[in-house]
Amino acid sequence: MVAHPSLSGVPAPVDLPANAVELRGLTKIYQPTGKAGPKHALKGIDLAIPRGSLFGLLGPNGAGKSTMINILAGLVNKTGGTARIWGHEVEDDPRRARASIGVVPQELNMDPFFTPREMLELQAGLYGVPTRERRTDELLDAVGLADKADAHARSLSGGMKRRLMVAKAMVHTPPVLILDEPTAGVDVELRRQLWDYVRTLNRAGTTVLLTTHYLQEAEELCDTIAIINHGEMVACEPTSTLLRRIDNKALCLTLDRDLTAAPAALSGFTVELPTPRRLVIRYQPSRQRADAILNALVASGLGIVDVSTEESNLEDIFLQLTGGAHGGHGTTHAA
Ligand SMILES: Nc1ncnc2c1ncn2[C@@H]1O[C@H](COP(=O)(O)OP(=O)(O)O)[C@@H](O)[C@H]1O
Ligand SMILES: [Mg+2]
Repeated sequence: MVAHPSLSGVPAPVDLPANAVELRGLTKIYQPTGKAGPKHALKGIDLAIPRGSLFGLLGPNGAGKSTMINILAGLVNKTGGTARIWGHEVEDDPRRARASIGVVPQELNMDPFFTPREMLELQAGLYGVPTRERRTDELLDAVGLADKADAHARSLSGGMKRRLMVAKAMVHTPPVLILDEPTAGVDVELRRQLWDYVRTLNRAGTTVLLTTHYLQEAEELCDTIAIINHGEMVACEPTSTLLRRIDNKALCLTLDRDLTAAPAALSGFTVELPTPRRLVIRYQPSRQRADAILNALVASGLGIVDVSTEESNLEDIFLQLTGGAHGGHGTTHAA
């Protein structure tokens, strides 16, 4: 039986772990298959996910996210290091470790002949949840599938299946919920609905670990973000800190005359002169204002013909840290 801080309604026992998930030197080498050599998927990951966190794990395809999740889920054997869930090491104490998490895997595998209600009942049975403690209707309702409770799973859309998997992961009220790419292939509206449910679970005390390649999802939802690349951790910070790292904007100006050097009036800024008539001035919006730059230029007698700004966002830091493996790009706004 897993103590749950708030869903069970009883006061939290004093021995709740500080970290819901704790990885130390976690290593995975997949054995060679066919012509492919051994694959070093995780190269000594250290990670602590505090109890109560809504934690995002980002990384380009092949970075090792699913490998990490699957080790926590007991689906992949690690090569080295330790992985603890709610204080229980996944190989030393697999029963308790597994009872402490609900996992929504990246690959949806569900029997098309069961209905959502049957699937949740079956799962609850597997986890030994007594009939009177089952929350089938509550869970179906929470993921917006109450009206599909008795429909065949094969008639559910991709988004519905994904939500059903979330409900299935929660049947035993685990203190930790792990979602591998939960909104891949889910349309925008349902994605928001799923986010709302994840937020609700998190507010009620469930620690959530999710992987995503939608950077906006991580930015909006997660309090802390870790970025992995080629099996190594390249960043792990509170989302606000990570975003502050990219407190960086560029003001791009077209001038009324050619310059041969950056204007003296802008000595306090980082200035580039890509062409004699174009000035690019980098500044930190949290500390500097665009009007200070523009006023300094006008006061020095320069005419400004046109203005635009370039803003960096999580996408930029991601690209910077992972070497351009993501498909998107930063935004450009007219000023
Ligand atoms: N069963 C496996 N056998 C061999 N290599 C694998 C296996 N599963 C994953 N890999 C490799 O390990 C690396 C990490 O994969 P994965 O954990 O799925 O990354 P992600 O989820 O971040 O896309 C990739 O290079 C992938 O090809
Ligand atoms: Mg994956």
